[in-house]
Amino acid sequence: MNDKDYEDFISTVSHELRTPLTSIRGFSETMLSSWDKLDDESKKKFLKIIVEQSNRLINLVENMLSVTKLQNTKEDLIYKEVQIKPAIETIISIIKNQYSDKSFKIDINPNTPPILADKDKFEQILTNIIENAAKYGDENSTIFIKTEILNDMVSIKITNSGIEIPQNDYEKIFTKFSRIDNPLTRKVQGSGLGLYITKNLVEKMGGKIFVKSENHKTTFEIHLPSSNIEVQAREKCSR
Ligand SMILES: Nc1ncnc2c1ncn2[C@@H]1O[C@H](COP(=O)(O)OP(=O)(O)OP(=O)(O)O)[C@@H](O)[C@H]1O
Ligand SMILES: [Mg+2]
Repeated sequence: MNDKDYEDFISTVSHELRTPLTSIRGFSETMLSSWDKLDDESKKKFLKIIVEQSNRLINLVENMLSVTKLQNTKEDLIYKEVQIKPAIETIISIIKNQYSDKSFKIDINPNTPPILADKDKFEQILTNIIENAAKYGDENSTIFIKTEILNDMVSIKITNSGIEIPQNDYEKIFTKFSRIDNPLTRKVQGSGLGLYITKNLVEKMGGKIFVKSENHKTTFEIHLPSSNIEVQAREKCSR
């Protein structure tokens, strides 16, 4: 990282950490000082905000750690066979809490083979893309997640309706700290690191990521190697 990048990093990090922390502190203090005056519904609402903001902090720290690790090319990934469906369902169940106006529709070909990937990193990839779809999607809209079997890869497509990403920005969004300036991004929080990390992780695992945004719909498509290749290779060796 050069000095300019480092300064950007520190100022983005400080801002991004302060926002959820301030909100966690504020709501906890209110609950402590006014416990007897608050009804159960308000207490529940406040606790929900505290959980949401804590989740945001966890994802943020996870992403920040990844940025520093990405510079270190020797970071070891642990490859295993990973089933796609349960991973997607886990991530959705977490994201749903925070974006309760969104619905999720999953369409997974039952013959989809597992992928060969680092499970935690795969979940981080899904979290970043599905969270974006929820964060930048139209209010009360549905997010579609569909898998397809390609030759030796599995494709995962995540589609949301909402403000489009201009074609000129397709490359830019995958770079560090880049956010597209529109009324929506000004309203929602973000450090502009999610897609940068996601692209790096996908490529490290031998995959590719594409974006297409038109007719008020945005689709991110991820290709990751299916574990069949390895199984096939192993079979060849044992012949
Ligand atoms: N599904 C989407 N629909 C519309 N715009 C999107 C979508 N996903 C990403 N973008 C745009 O790309 C930018 C970069 O996304 P990225 O995930 O890297 O950063 P972020 O969401 O702003 O912050 P972070 O993920 O680090 O919290 C976003 O700020 C937004 O402008
Ligand atoms: Mg993001």
